Amino acid sequence: MSADAAISRLWPAPSAAPLDDTELTALYGRTDRPRLRVNFVTSVDGAVSLDGYSAGLSGVPDKRVFGLLRMLCDGLLVAAGTLRHEGYGAVRLDAARRAWRRAHGLAEYPTLVVVSGSLDLDPAQAAFADAPVRPVVLTHAAAEAPPGLTEVADLVRCGADRVDLAAGLAELRRRGLSQVLCEGGPHLFGALTAADLVDEVCLTVAPLLAGAGPGRIAAGPAGGHRELPLRHVLAAADGVLMLRYARAAQANANANANTEAEANAEANPDAANAEANPDAAPAPAPAAAS
Ligand SMILES: NC(=O)c1ccc[n+]([C@@H]2O[C@H](COP(=O)([O-])OP(=O)(O)OC[C@H]3O[C@@H](n4cnc5c(N)ncnc54)[C@H](OP(=O)(O)O)[C@@H]3O)[C@@H](O)[C@H]2O)c1
Repeated sequence: MSADAAISRLWPAPSAAPLDDTELTALYGRTDRPRLRVNFVTSVDGAVSLDGYSAGLSGVPDKRVFGLLRMLCDGLLVAAGTLRHEGYGAVRLDAARRAWRRAHGLAEYPTLVVVSGSLDLDPAQAAFADAPVRPVVLTHAAAEAPPGLTEVADLVRCGADRVDLAAGLAELRRRGLSQVLCEGGPHLFGALTAADLVDEVCLTVAPLLAGAGPGRIAAGPAGGHRELPLRHVLAAADGVLMLRYARAAQANANANANTEAEANAEANPDAANAEANPDAAPAPAPAAAS
């Protein structure tokens, strides 16, 4: 994949000029309402991995946006499967990105949030053991924690015998993690889609065919189909595309922009209010922390 980090905008307002970090940051941005953003890289034929890992699909431009999205989030949500398989280390950001966060009143690092039904997690994995911020594990009431896990992470139990993701997200928001970035994997993405919790998808398309074998970026039981309008198309050298899709209420990246949601609110105050205030939806089951 491409070693050139330059990224330019194809749509809207095409420009061949390479985007600097400030411009890229504004294009992805934070919002003033809770948001669940999902980030994946895929091949032209929709593969989730190459030779078993996402790294074969990624490259320098994708890693640039990947790091930027981490800088912008409060909570970094990842499924236990991806955490184990990809060998997640501690979430780190470089000095410039930490300075950006401080300047914007954010904690220096986002909080890692792991979703696991089995709690088959290794407390010695660097993602837990070396974490700069104590991670959160979303699980359910029946799951048994392995020795040492509660020493390195907060366990949040949502649901009796399966993880209630809506309740988990509500608990994250209660803890101040309003902007949540999900880095996968496919089973978690499928479950979040089925529960209609996905506000935005950032998708990097690598210009290659992976062929048959790897799964899709969403997996698990069918369900959850819904519209997700395209918001921007960026391109990097060698034809890597970076697409951003978002619900209407999340159309504009910048919190202070005159958002489409605000326009909708004027046209249809009731509908806009329901989107803007997730607490207005039926209350999810309460989460128990341990
Ligand atoms: N292309 C990309 O951008 C990208 C991104 C991420 C991952 N990947 C690839 O995806 C593959 C890993 O996928 P995977 O099949 O292991 O899927 P996954 O979604 O990463 O992990 C599945 C596991 O995560 C936990 N989990 C996920 N959803 C859950 C839910 N709703 N409730 C409770 N637990 C949940 C469970 O862990 P427990 O077993 O602990 O209960 C489950 O077994 C790897 O090849 C990785 O490289 C690619």
